[in-house]
Amino acid sequence: MCGIIGYAGHRPAVPVVTEGLRRLEYRGYDSAGVAFMRQDDLRVIRSKGKLAALEEKLADEPVTTATCAIGHTRWATHGVPAERNAHPHCSNDGALAIVHNGIIENYQEIKADLTTKGYIFHSETDTEVLVNLIAERRKSEPDLLHALAGALREAHGAYAVCLIQRDAPGTFYAARMSAPLIFGLGTGENFVASDIPAFLLYTRRVIFLDDGDIVQATSTDYQIMHLADLQPAKHDPQTILWDMQAAQKTGFRHFMLKEIFEQPRVITDALTGRITTGRDTVLLPELKDLPIPKRLHIVACGTSYHSALWGRHLLEHWAHVPVQVEIASEFRYRDALLQTDDMMLVISQSGETADTLAALRIAREHGATVLGLCNMVGSSIAREASAVIYTQAGHEISVASTKAMCSQMLMLALLALYWSGRRNNAAALTKGQRRKWITILETLPALLDTHLPSMHEKARQLSRKYSQARNFFYLGRGHCFPLALEGALKLKELSYIHAEGYAAGEMKHGPIALVDALFPTFALAPDDALFPKVKSNITEVQARQGKIIALTNEGMELAADEIWIIPRVAAPLVGFMILPVLQLFSYEMSDYLGKDVDQPRNLAKSVTVE
Ligand code: F6R
Repeated sequence: MCGIIGYAGHRPAVPVVTEGLRRLEYRGYDSAGVAFMRQDDLRVIRSKGKLAALEEKLADEPVTTATCAIGHTRWATHGVPAERNAHPHCSNDGALAIVHNGIIENYQEIKADLTTKGYIFHSETDTEVLVNLIAERRKSEPDLLHALAGALREAHGAYAVCLIQRDAPGTFYAARMSAPLIFGLGTGENFVASDIPAFLLYTRRVIFLDDGDIVQATSTDYQIMHLADLQPAKHDPQTILWDMQAAQKTGFRHFMLKEIFEQPRVITDALTGRITTGRDTVLLPELKDLPIPKRLHIVACGTSYHSALWGRHLLEHWAHVPVQVEIASEFRYRDALLQTDDMMLVISQSGETADTLAALRIAREHGATVLGLCNMVGSSIAREASAVIYTQAGHEISVASTKAMCSQMLMLALLALYWSGRRNNAAALTKGQRRKWITILETLPALLDTHLPSMHEKARQLSRKYSQARNFFYLGRGHCFPLALEGALKLKELSYIHAEGYAAGEMKHGPIALVDALFPTFALAPDDALFPKVKSNITEVQARQGKIIALTNEGMELAADEIWIIPRVAAPLVGFMILPVLQLFSYEMSDYLGKDVDQPRNLAKSVTVE
């Protein structure tokens, strides 16, 4: 949420920073801005709206030779999206400019105090308060580093900040607390940014900063210290192995479409090296030192939460592990009564979601083991968990999550098979049963490769027919219920059409009152043990003139307005066929309605504030 970047080096800094912002724009796109030195002035250019608006403004600027700059792309927390609230923010004396991702919780008190000292505020942001607090501290501290550290010790909350000053043009300062920040080490240039793609064109050597780290960097030199005492903090640089291919659309109209079509590859990658040659055992060496949990709490948000709900069916059924699934923002504020032999599984694509990270920390405080299921290598959740399994989906750029969910489901299936294998008793699966499921998993990439183009075409046709609907139900039972929730989430976030995901059996308990001829229902009715029940629920909707789009398998007896046949895969793994259908339908609805598919309004990819 919000993307920040800082640069000091030998290149013209403004193009480097704006290019970096383009790669961070998925984190927020309400406004954007840059700050750099022009002769003796600290110049700040900001603009409401997407980065393109900022670039237009920059095109009118005289070319700058500045070699140090900071930039920001905003997802509004304090203050509406407007130029006055866009970052960078300057101190009243014009000597400091800062970009900030996060929330300073006690900014009102600090603001009140600074106001009595004569400071004037031009925005509603907490960030403008912070930069003036630093300026105030600067009056009594020996240098800017001490002033920044002092101000950050006074400020409570979450932040990743980057700061430059008029009087030392080639240096940037940065710090992090509960918001992602990565330092990039180049040759004759250094970077700091909210995410690696911002500078991956220039360097692969990175340091994942820790909470409480503060950095001072020039083009040729840097120091990382502890904010608490300004003593050196030890970090070993790491080399990033993935490349920028993930950040290109490679011929697809949108990143979302590209990422949907990447799912066969995602499954293949997730299976690579995970299966023994006998095809009956799953290898998860990351977990070898952890016991099979007596009780597993899965905590996540949004789409990752839906993966968790889906995974529960497999973990309970295949591995006989009792599972509770909870939304992270709810979990963190209740008395969870965790036992030391409980395990928490946190699922997060970004590995930075604030509520999920908070839940992880609570579990650790209770002495519970925490297993992370993350996509982003080196993310906060990955680093703070007792053990981590990476989903290896590759960088997901589209704000709406697609391939990440597919990879999470795959890893949850592997996890259930792994614990079932370790349990190795009659209660769990037999070797033969495990072999059967593993073999099915291995067929999924080819099956999807074959069917994704026709799924896409069908989604295109139906989107034209149903684009006028203002409401949608998504119904499913058992393993299909989480997918119904996900289908509804995708439709609402991408096309802004109201959609509700429901357990089909719950309809009679109230929601069915909404059904009429203008309120269509997407019914998930694959060939599984609950098919007859779902069929009855479909009939109940039809009796109220509700239109039905039914996802089902060849040969199933079902009457509906639209029958959408999906490839036959044994339940629950048929979920890997249902998921892309739901994604493609929402994608086509959004695109047909002229919405911004990759960057839906009001959203940001990485939710680093609660
Ligand atoms: C929806 C979506 C979000 C995320 C949620 C959790 O398409 O992308 O609901 O799933 O914000 O994010 P992570 O998985 O990064 O913790």
